[in-house]
Amino acid sequence: MEIENTRPKRVDFIFNKEGIDPLKVVEKTIQRNPDDIILDMIDSGLKGRGGAGFPTGLKWKFTKNEDSPVKYVICNADEGEPGTFKDREILDQVPEKVFSGLSICGYTVGAREGFIYLRGEYNFLLKSLNEKLKRFNDGLKKMGLDFTIQMRSGSGAYICGEESALFESMEGYRGEPRNKPPYPTVAGYLGKPTAINNVETLVYACMICQFGPEKFREIGTRDSRGSKVFSVSGDTPKAGIHELELGMTVQQFVEEFGDGDTKAVQVGGASGGCVPRKNFKDTIIGYEGIPTGGSMMLFNSSRSMYNVLHDYLEFFTEESCGQCTPCRVGCQQLLKGIEAVKRGERPPAYLEDLKKLAATMKLSAKCGLGQSVANPFVSIVNNFREEIIY
Ligand SMILES: Cc1cc2nc3c(=O)[nH]c(=O)nc-3n(C[C@H](O)[C@H](O)[C@H](O)COP(=O)(O)O)c2cc1C
Repeated sequence: MEIENTRPKRVDFIFNKEGIDPLKVVEKTIQRNPDDIILDMIDSGLKGRGGAGFPTGLKWKFTKNEDSPVKYVICNADEGEPGTFKDREILDQVPEKVFSGLSICGYTVGAREGFIYLRGEYNFLLKSLNEKLKRFNDGLKKMGLDFTIQMRSGSGAYICGEESALFESMEGYRGEPRNKPPYPTVAGYLGKPTAINNVETLVYACMICQFGPEKFREIGTRDSRGSKVFSVSGDTPKAGIHELELGMTVQQFVEEFGDGDTKAVQVGGASGGCVPRKNFKDTIIGYEGIPTGGSMMLFNSSRSMYNVLHDYLEFFTEESCGQCTPCRVGCQQLLKGIEAVKRGERPPAYLEDLKKLAATMKLSAKCGLGQSVANPFVSIVNNFREEIIY
């Protein structure tokens, strides 16, 4: 199907403050039955904005259905994916909307405590967030909701954004992913049922409660409802944060954000896939095409894609928690492998062996970190082979 080359549609759900009192959204929503709130979330089609795209309504439903007197809700503000900086901006500009979404989530699943796990590098936001949180918690108390939110600080490890490693970190242990199942909705923080959502997901949850699920559903596509906040960086005259309707092609995106010389777009951060110019028109940004947690890095012809891949692999090698062999050893071998090919110490055909290693990591690594290294590796090697070899 030929897709029309229109510019991406801009949306203003997230940062718009006009006529919205996030505390009042909580007050209004908690008059409703939790099951009805869950139905609205499911009906809206909202999928998690942290990368994996799990349906938010189902996550809340699974947590609510667990029979436990103690449950937790957590906002994942670790934002460690290279090229992603939208959660920082959301927490800076509209933190009350995040608190509101988290409180509604807490009420819905039956939790009395919520936490915001903030990336260590964002600690400069902590003072102001704590002040605003104090006022918000007081507001919750006044309306009779038995729920409070606290801040928790991360310590600067990418792996701590992975939900189960995040729980370990919050519990005071080294940030390492847990075996799954059990999933967080059954046994998360302190072994209790936990609903963990990304910052942006929680703001959309708040907006859906304010405006109704239809408003969200009516934009985007069947598989990718609503809009999304994109962190745009690289070779672009429009670097920054942009909220756009889901379902555009990479071509449409590049027409709006490119510099006229874009040769590749890395969609979804270092752990995402690299789309070369020849595929711009056929690739949809969304769950039916190439999903993204929000990072969009544009590269023009001045860039060496070898250097881009090398940087990503250095990052993964540094950030691998080291717990499982496929990831710990695989990241190092991929890095050493492309260096050897670049120096001419290995033939170009060695890249095929490295692709097999990346595929093995996808199947056997314990968590999303090691599993996703194949995304940038295979897409860059396949599409920019001539830039990788000697
Ligand atoms: C290595 C790794 C890092 C991650 N980092 C983040 C992060 O910084 N923020 C985030 O929301 N999700 C991150 N995730 C995804 C979380 O594990 C989880 O799926 C997400 O917080 C769920 O929220 P959502 O359903 O609202 O997307 C990461 C996953 C992996 C494997």
